[in-house]
Amino acid sequence: MLRDGHGRIARKLRVSVTDRCDLRCVYCMPERPVWLPRAEILDYEELGRLAAVAVAEGVRQVRVTGGEPLLRKDLDRFVGMLKAVPGLEEVALTTNGTRLADQAAALRSAGLDRVTVSLDSLEPETFKAMARVDGVADALRGMDAAEAAGFGPLKVNCVVMRGVNDAQLGDLAEWGRRTGRSLRFIEFMPLEGDKIWSRSLLVPAADIVNAVTARFPAVERPGAAGATSVTYDYADGRGSFGVIASVTRAFCADCDRIRLTADGTFRTCLFAESGTDLRGPLRAGASDEALAGLMRSAVAAKGPGHLIGLPSFHRPDRAMNAIGG
Ligand code: 5AD
Ligand code: SF4
Repeated sequence: MLRDGHGRIARKLRVSVTDRCDLRCVYCMPERPVWLPRAEILDYEELGRLAAVAVAEGVRQVRVTGGEPLLRKDLDRFVGMLKAVPGLEEVALTTNGTRLADQAAALRSAGLDRVTVSLDSLEPETFKAMARVDGVADALRGMDAAEAAGFGPLKVNCVVMRGVNDAQLGDLAEWGRRTGRSLRFIEFMPLEGDKIWSRSLLVPAADIVNAVTARFPAVERPGAAGATSVTYDYADGRGSFGVIASVTRAFCADCDRIRLTADGTFRTCLFAESGTDLRGPLRAGASDEALAGLMRSAVAAKGPGHLIGLPSFHRPDRAMNAIGG
């Protein structure tokens, strides 16, 4: 069991398969990223073995992330490997959607259970202001393909930045209601490569909820323990939206997540200042039991949570794309 000193048990593992991406979202990537060296990236067999060790230690869900995971060749093969791990209940994927149109059917056949797509704006100019690259049309095509392959109803992640896309939240909600996709608005967290984060760019969850409900009245759904997002059901019954208040209402006390980066670093918190290297021991021939022991010790030392906004807050040692969303 992966139990920490604050009574939390790790049940969800995020596996980043690459730090590379075809977009350059300002809240994530530096403008000129330095990619992890290829030799340091774990192959699917290595990632799958570490995931299986985590599952044997109680993990129930694996979410595949990046960078952009669909940039990695034959991702459906990795999904198939995960699906074969005994005891794993769900395999999910977070993607920017630009390559989903080509891969959705193969991912479905490989047994992928769920897909979450990111989309910060429907306006090509705003999208480009955030992603530094065009991509709306591809992402929308990707979502259509994902639904056609059986992944609906989709959840769509939208990072909100003051003065950038915050005037479009009502339009995004309208689109979500019309298409049957559930928007999840996310507070901008200080994880980006270019260190642009400031309070003034943060739109607090309360303001996000006010902006959406001013146009479409909605009521808060009583929370499920451990949920990172708060769900709001539209009063007219036409679906729901969610808000992830990672900064203003940190959910650290209920956190059941751990992470594995593409280069085999085990991280117990998104904001951990460093991680535990598993690649070295793995490639040196460590047994499953030894690897499990390293995971157990890392989780035992997991801190209580992040302190964004407090003077004692320190950024992690890597940007989001090299940690895994
Ligand atoms: N703040 C909030 N969310 C972020 N993501 C990436 N960087 C940040 C950040 N700084 C989210 C994006 C994407 C997922 C992979 O991670 O919404 O959906
Ligand atoms: Fe790429 Fe996702 Fe980071 Fe945007 S948030 S740059 S899509 S990895």
